[in-house]
Amino acid sequence: MAGGVSSTVNGGEAAASFPAKMTIHVILACLVASFGGLIFGYDVGISGGVTSMDPFLMKFFPDVYRKEETSVVSSNQYCKFNSQMLTLFTSSLYLAALIASFFASTVTRVFGRKMSMLGGGLVFLAGAIINGFARDVAMLIIGRILLGIGIGFSNQSVPLYLSETAPPKHRGMFNICFQLMVTIGILVANLINYGTAMIHGGWGWRVSLGLAAVPAIMIVIGSLFLPDTPNSLIERGHRDKAKAMLRRVRGTDDVQAEYDYLVAASEASKAVKHPWRSLMQRKHRPQLVMSILIPVFQQLTGINVVMFYAPVLFKTIGFGSNASLISAVITGGFNVVATFVAIFTVDRLGRRPLLLEGGLQMIIAQFILGSLIALKFGFNGIAVISSGYAILVVAFICLFVTAFAWSWGPLGWLVPSEIYPLEIRSAAQSVTVSFNMLFTFIVAEVFLLMLCHMKFVLFYFFGACEIIMTVFIYLFLPETKNIPIEEMDKIWKNHWFWSTYVTVTGTGTATADEVDLEMGNTHNVI
Ligand code: BGC
Repeated sequence: MAGGVSSTVNGGEAAASFPAKMTIHVILACLVASFGGLIFGYDVGISGGVTSMDPFLMKFFPDVYRKEETSVVSSNQYCKFNSQMLTLFTSSLYLAALIASFFASTVTRVFGRKMSMLGGGLVFLAGAIINGFARDVAMLIIGRILLGIGIGFSNQSVPLYLSETAPPKHRGMFNICFQLMVTIGILVANLINYGTAMIHGGWGWRVSLGLAAVPAIMIVIGSLFLPDTPNSLIERGHRDKAKAMLRRVRGTDDVQAEYDYLVAASEASKAVKHPWRSLMQRKHRPQLVMSILIPVFQQLTGINVVMFYAPVLFKTIGFGSNASLISAVITGGFNVVATFVAIFTVDRLGRRPLLLEGGLQMIIAQFILGSLIALKFGFNGIAVISSGYAILVVAFICLFVTAFAWSWGPLGWLVPSEIYPLEIRSAAQSVTVSFNMLFTFIVAEVFLLMLCHMKFVLFYFFGACEIIMTVFIYLFLPETKNIPIEEMDKIWKNHWFWSTYVTVTGTGTATADEVDLEMGNTHNVI
């Protein structure tokens, strides 16, 4: 697997001897990272609540508001929020993030992680301010685009900063902690929406949108004070500074082994001339397929329908404004708590059991949800539902969210980060990030339209996608738990299907970057 790379080091043994102390610097980095995850999660969670607030709809989307008002029970509930502009408000952010992540990758490599975080934080801050003061739809969308650019940069640099700063031993934990922060960001957004919706005078939505400035300011200040990572300094030719930094970060002078290791990794990664061409080679077919299908499947679970549109969805099935927002808080809470389950079980139970159980639970939840909605609303979308029935719907949404949060949520990021060998790591990981953003955009863009046309069948559609992805995992994803990166090629070689593609044997040695991955690396790479 690492055969194409000349400069290799015995990664497993080397990494085990590196200092693993949690210094104040590492804790600070963890804080900065938490703001990176928070701003992403905050954006995911905030739009749904805001777009269900009447004053916001009245001001920016009066057509939607009128439809909502006049269609209380007498007309098709499935279509009342269907508006291209309303959808664009949500989805524009992800398109901007997708495009920005192409540039962010270069900026992060050439100017360092710190500059990328700083730039991302500043653009994000501008977006939050413009949104908070928005006077028309154009300002709203421009604000969302700026937020998206900020997310593109911070999602690229923050996790990378984290994994390079954390002691190798703790990298896996840091990886899922980023996802945990995303879920906390979503929950905080839901809580804030619940609070601001009660503000009299109809300007609560401004507070919801403007408060995104808080984590943005934190990340700007944090990145001004934090130094760049040793890996980035070495990559940019500042070897002395890198060594000094390593001493500071690890809290000891005994860093020679890790330093040599980082230098070897940097040289090895420079030796990879054509990662894209390499990714297309037959022997990398399993990685290419996973780099595309894992993020696509993660989004086709339908999770962001709940994350973006839960309050709108709840209003659609007849909840009042308050009940809709409270329900979003409840689902957000389940999302956070269930992520802990993944943190504590992923290395013990393994990836496959979580993905298979999570998949099955999501299938059951989606088919029951579809049927509950079908029973009441049928095809014409006209009904009033009792509060008992509504609670049942929320319960099944929670069952679905919980399943996602301990399976495809964190593992949709962790598994890709573990399976790419050095020579294709950068290319494959950027494919993963881009497909994730692209499908997040597509789901945000077409959901309201699909709900209007497919009605309750939409839930069956996501259920069917979940059947396909669960069967896919069962058949095609080998277990990666506890497998050292240098032996990762064996999982494909011994696989009933992939063995026909993978013919190269591992060398028994790994590059430093590969060991980075072994420790559970980041959502994004340079
Ligand atoms: C996904 C996001 C989603 C979040 C929900 C993440 O893993 O990539 O699209 O909104 O989980 O918790």
